[in-house]
Parts: sequence; structure tokens; C-alpha cells
Amino acid sequence: MTIEIVTAHAPEPAAQVPVQPAPVFAPQPDAGAVPPASQLVVEAVDVPTTAPPVLLAERPELASNEPSPRELSNVVPAPREIGDVSHLAELDARSISAWFGDHNVLDRVSLLMAAGQVTALIGPSGCGKSTFLRILNRMHELIPSASMAGEVILDGQDVYAPERRLTEARRHIGMVFQKPNPFPAMSIYDNVIAGLQLTGTKLSSSDKDTLVESCLVKGGLWNEVKDRLRQPGGGLSGGQQQRLCIARSLAVQPRVLLMDEPCSALDPTSTRRIEETIHELKSEVTIVIVTHNMQQAARVSDQCAFFLAAAGQPGVIVEYGATAAMFDSPQDSRTFDYVYGRFG
Ligand SMILES: Nc1ncnc2c1ncn2[C@@H]1O[C@H](COP(=O)(O)OP(=O)(O)OP(=O)(O)O)[C@@H](O)[C@H]1O
Ligand SMILES: [Mg+2]
Repeated sequence: MTIEIVTAHAPEPAAQVPVQPAPVFAPQPDAGAVPPASQLVVEAVDVPTTAPPVLLAERPELASNEPSPRELSNVVPAPREIGDVSHLAELDARSISAWFGDHNVLDRVSLLMAAGQVTALIGPSGCGKSTFLRILNRMHELIPSASMAGEVILDGQDVYAPERRLTEARRHIGMVFQKPNPFPAMSIYDNVIAGLQLTGTKLSSSDKDTLVESCLVKGGLWNEVKDRLRQPGGGLSGGQQQRLCIARSLAVQPRVLLMDEPCSALDPTSTRRIEETIHELKSEVTIVIVTHNMQQAARVSDQCAFFLAAAGQPGVIVEYGATAAMFDSPQDSRTFDYVYGRFG
């Protein structure tokens, strides 16, 4: 079987994304040694599809008592289809590096974002949190000069696999931005279902009504807008617009919801409302949230990852773990200093 060493994949036709050598099978070159993206090539190698023979030589009992294919399928669960909404999805970022031109901004960052949990990404400005988030749903590749290496695995499936379409990643991994971005002239109702065009989903009007209501309920906005669904989305307050954007993201049934500082432009009441929404949503969607607000990270997240970029260096994860432990007894002195407000 031939596979590519490089795990940054060819973009959709509209995007021109150069690839960088992936660190998956070989040590990643130092940031300073990374050649310009234009000089990089994709290599292909032959790899065996079976387990290395040495394993059987070391454990002859396995060779003499090989399990049948049926038994094997019990041992190694087949990867689930990433659109299978019957369970919560886990998102696994493996050895992610990112560049803008030859500026290396993330260096081999690995993070498992557990199914049905809220993972908070914290860290000072410029350490690569938003870049990491954009790599998770393939938005990074839309930026001219941007390149990346590593793997993003959703439910055992590679989001960057060549056969996967860009729109598929977007559909399964939704994103809410810092600044609410509803379509201002479009009605609240149409805003919620705007994403269905992306997925090519066609629904009857009664199914659309049901979907709009359920997404607005989940987004914590239904009671405030149910009597004005045909009014423009731009007429809502900032906090309401952000909840409308959450409702819009939910309409395509994402497996993961990425939120990049979703409350930074909001007042405390709207912030609290969004935090309640996050609590309610995590029973059906895996959530990753970037926040500069340590109290918010402590309130909403189960797991927390602290990103840091030393001067002139790419961002890395310094510490990762259960949020309560990270805030009560951080293991790294830099985490301690950050969560207790000594810098950043
Ligand atoms: N479009 C871009 N072109 C070039 N460089 C970029 C681009 N976007 C981000 N960068 C650089 O990548 C690095 C990481 O930026 P990123 O926005 O991911 O940081 P961040 O941790 O999200 O910061 P903040 O907390 O301020 O939002 C920074 O050095 C930034 O200047
Ligand atoms: Mg950011």
C-alpha cells in the first residue's frame, strides 16, 4: 500500500496550500531549518499493511493461534463514519505544526479532545490557539501562505484524508467566532438553516420549522425570538447574535463545535447565557473553546490545555489535564503564573 508521508493534503481547487514535511514518521526539522513551502514536495513510501513479523517471532503462540477475521473485528473496532451522530465524537490532533510562509507558529502540538467534554484552550496572545482551532476544521488552508503538518482524526477518520472534501470537515466540525457573524439582512429563521445549503440537505417546510425551533432552543435563544423569526438577524443584540450563530452551527448536526473566544465581545449576562448553552450542548456535541477568561475556562471546561510560545519560538502545549487540577495545582510553573494572572 502506498501512503503519503506528508499529512497536509491537497486542498480543494480554490485553495492553494503548500505542504510541509510531517513529523509523523520522521523527526520534525527545527523551526529555523524548515525550507520555504514552495520547495517542499510530497513523498510517497511503501509501507506494509500487516503487523511487523518480529511481533509474531517474539510471541509464537500468536502465530499458531491466529484469530479469525471475525474475532479480529471484535478486537480492533472499525473506525466509525464521521457523520454517525449516534454517539459523541472524539477529536484527536496529532503532532500539529503550522506555518505562515516560513514563520513556524505551532510545533508538534498533540491534543485529544474527549468525546462529550468541553476542552478549553488557554494561553497568551499569539501562541497559536486560533491557528490550532482553524487547523481542526480545515480553515487554516484557506489562508494564503499557510501550511501545516500533522493529523486530525475525528472518530478514527482522518479529516485531511485526500478523499475527504473540505466541506465535509466544516460540516462535522462547526465553528463559532469571536465576533458574531450572522447574515445581517437575512431573517433569524433563514440564518439558522443557512448551513443546509452547504451540505445540500433538502427539507420540507415543516421539517425546517422543527429544525429551526430545536436549534434555537439548544442555542438558548428560542424564547427571545420565537415571535420574530422573520425579522433580520442583524436586529438582535450582540449576545443574541452569538447564540444565533451557535444555533446556525448546530443545524448541520456537527460532531464537534469549535468556539474561538465566543464571549469576548459580550456583556456578563450574555456571557453567562452562552456558558449555560455550552453546558447544555456538551451532551450532544464535543466542544473546544478558546478563552482568555480564566474564570470562564474554570466554569465551562472539563479539560484544559495551556498553550505558550516562548519569544521567537512556535507555540506548544505546556500543560494539559483536568481543568480542576490545572487550576488548583498546576504542574508547570509557567501554567501557575499564567492561570494566576502573573503574565499574559
Ligand atoms: N493570517 C496570518 N498571516 C500571518 N501570520 C499569522 C496569521 N494569523 C496568525 N498569524 C500569526 O500566527 C501566530 C499565532 O496566531 P494566532 O492568531 O493563532 O494566536 P492566538 O493564540 O489565537 O492569539 P490571540 O489570543 O491574540 O487570539 C501569531 O504570531 C500571528 O501573528
Ligand atoms: Mg486567537
